[in-house]
Amino acid sequence: MSQTEGRRSRPSWSFPEYTPVGTDLNSPSAVASYDRNQGTDIAVDNALLDRLGVATGTCLVDLGCGTGSLVVQAARRGAEAHGVDVGQEMLVHARRRARQFGVTPSWHQAGFLDYVHRAAPADVVTTKSALHQLPDFWKQQALLHAAAMLRPGGTLYLWDVMFSFDPTEAEDHLQQWIDSASRPPGEGFTRTDFETHVREEFSTYTWILEGMIERAGLEIISRSFPRSTHGEFVCRKRPPTLRA
Ligand SMILES: C[S@@+](CC[C@H](N)C(=O)[O-])C[C@H]1O[C@@H](n2cnc3c(N)ncnc32)[C@H](O)[C@@H]1O
Repeated sequence: MSQTEGRRSRPSWSFPEYTPVGTDLNSPSAVASYDRNQGTDIAVDNALLDRLGVATGTCLVDLGCGTGSLVVQAARRGAEAHGVDVGQEMLVHARRRARQFGVTPSWHQAGFLDYVHRAAPADVVTTKSALHQLPDFWKQQALLHAAAMLRPGGTLYLWDVMFSFDPTEAEDHLQQWIDSASRPPGEGFTRTDFETHVREEFSTYTWILEGMIERAGLEIISRSFPRSTHGEFVCRKRPPTLRA
């Protein structure tokens, strides 16, 4: 086991979260085109921050922050914002974005599993389009770790590719997603990117995620699955149970 500042030591059998899974988004060219491909939008970030009540003084941690748009917008409204990502190139881009907006959030090259949150307990932990990078066993560990960062009553927001379709209809739903979302090279994520996601990344069923969230000590406040392949959970950390 090795210890790096800002990361906790992990056993040698831990998931190798710094090894890219599926499409590698961390090459310089992939990072440069990421915001266009993903449709990063400041207005969407701010609408989410409004929903989550992020304001001056809120401590927010974004796990798998990518190019850092949500973190930068949180910092602009006075939050104590932390962006966590395994990808060095992503963080280079995120730092540049922060400089452009004149804010100084904290950036951590760390993962879902090994990030050490040294600041005050978080009011809000967010993770968007990233948890699927971990197989299910490790998603559960990541959710436990995220819950441990939160203050009791704090909020976990999870958005990701997740499957709410009937498993017997998986092939139709996945093919429809790939067909409708794919763009020509240079215009967005390609058919190859989406096919790679389904084949090699670890998106899972919403009902599996629900069980994991509950077991992490979080209560699901709301769930929304606008597409059969995408969805969100808003969750609240339960207060500690009193032992007699
Ligand atoms: C699809 S991007 C999403 C970025 C951003 N959250 C967004 O919504 O645009 C996935 C991000 O997760 C990061 N990532 C992958 N595995 C991770 C892990 N184990 N811990 C933290 N970040 C991870 C990748 O480097 C990448 O920046």
